[in-house]
Amino acid sequence: MRKTILLAATLSALAFSAVAQAEDPFADAVEMRHGLMLQMATDMGKLGSMAKGEAAYDAAIAGRAASNVAAIASVLSMDQFPAGSEYQAATDSFALPAIWATQDDFLAKITDLNTAAAALKVASATDVEGLKAGMGQVGAACSACHKAYRQPEE
Ligand code: HEC
Repeated sequence: MRKTILLAATLSALAFSAVAQAEDPFADAVEMRHGLMLQMATDMGKLGSMAKGEAAYDAAIAGRAASNVAAIASVLSMDQFPAGSEYQAATDSFALPAIWATQDDFLAKITDLNTAAAALKVASATDVEGLKAGMGQVGAACSACHKAYRQPEE
């Protein structure tokens, strides 16, 4: 009798988790891309305060922040953007359907970010002028993609 109850409880727990997953199959992917984007924004924020003179320029800190952006850029791929996980289809997604409609261009924008981030890594460790120039390139790569592929939040 006790075994039957246990089995029933286990089965209903399994059924519940299956339902929860079925409701939002893209939750992990959306969370993953948000986390990667937020880490890049945090590192760009650190670099930005040095560029604006709010924080003292520090080659080591700048180099580490730029390395983080480059590392994250190298991880970005369609893995974080499974088909169907677009705005208004997946919870918390602001990814526009154009990502999948013009996937080659989306991937080219990831490549552009990688190129700019690699340059920033070198430039930001040189001096504050290098940091500013490198940030401009990376910022442009972020914005170009957001403009085309990210639904602005209201
Ligand atoms: C190749 C395209 C692309 C590039 C390049 C890109 N992003 Fe994004 N970003 C997106 C998309 C698409 C979203 C919306 C994702 C979603 O809501 O599911 C997004 C969302 C974000 C968000 C919001 C995250 C959240 O929790 O809602 C931040 C912050 C962000 N990006 C920062 C950056 C920064 C900083 C860079 C450059 C260093 C950058 N992004 C480069 C495509 C890109």
